[in-house]
Amino acid sequence: MPVAIRPLHPHLGAEVTGVDLRKPMTRDEVAAIEAGMDRHAVLVFPNQDITDEQQTAFTLNFGQLEDTTGGHVLKHHEKRLARHFADVSNLGQDNKPLARDSRARMFNLGNRLWHSDSSFRAIPAKYSLLSGRRIPPKGSGGNTEFADMRAAYDALDAATKAEIEDLVCEHSLMYSRAVLGFTELTEEEKESFRPVLQRLVRTHPVTGRKSLYLASHAGTIVGWPVPEARSFLRDLTEHATQPQFVYAHEWRQFDLVMWDNRQTMHRVRRFDDQKYVRDVRRTTVAGDAPTVAQQPALQALAGAQVA
Ligand code: OGA
Ligand code: MN
Repeated sequence: MPVAIRPLHPHLGAEVTGVDLRKPMTRDEVAAIEAGMDRHAVLVFPNQDITDEQQTAFTLNFGQLEDTTGGHVLKHHEKRLARHFADVSNLGQDNKPLARDSRARMFNLGNRLWHSDSSFRAIPAKYSLLSGRRIPPKGSGGNTEFADMRAAYDALDAATKAEIEDLVCEHSLMYSRAVLGFTELTEEEKESFRPVLQRLVRTHPVTGRKSLYLASHAGTIVGWPVPEARSFLRDLTEHATQPQFVYAHEWRQFDLVMWDNRQTMHRVRRFDDQKYVRDVRRTTVAGDAPTVAQQPALQALAGAQVA
């Protein structure tokens, strides 16, 4: 059966059928999926009951795996999943819901803020692939929402586009966690959360479309007073996440959702995580380059050491 791609929203998101993610992909299938990603930025593959190994093999069709552990708070816990998986479930190593006050849970609550994966890394992520193994009952929350940052960019007025064209932001997990009041970090964590620089406007390497590159990890704009930068970033985020730019994904068991972090932001909505199990597992395709040229002057300004 050939790959079929059906749009789910006027701007972003499409459903993909006609592929079996348990099997190796043909070159044509990979090309069709990549073209679908370039166009729709979010792809939903329903009814894919896959193992961690099959998810890993499917992910490798699109590039190298990002190692999601480095310096992360969960390094101090034994991980439930293999090293290259981001465990964004509500489960601990014992496969039971994390206690309400557990550090791992509080850290993961940051996913309820709009973000783009790994924008706090010097080379941020390309694609994320999230597999829904167990999902709370329909209607009990836990949707994932995606905002189209290309459409949001397009809708800005010309003066704003000109103003932001060459702006550079500092991103860090420290900023996004501080928004939620999670500020107790070890010295080791502070060290690994050193801010990195990211352009505010990115250009897609294949389509040439521009997009806003925002995330809750963005804490300031290089050369700007912090309060002015934060209020502007907040305004831009408010603009970019208006309902017309957002596709809300309501999960069914065994959906695999794949998104392009270069052109979208996402967030998970709240649900009763003490009552329900939400076992969702993420693999991540590494990006290939920083978004800013590694200019020594900018690095010094930001006080950041970007490898
Ligand atoms: C992620 C993430 C949201 C969700 O996997 O990067 O933000 O719906 N997850 O769990
Ligand atoms: Mn995420």
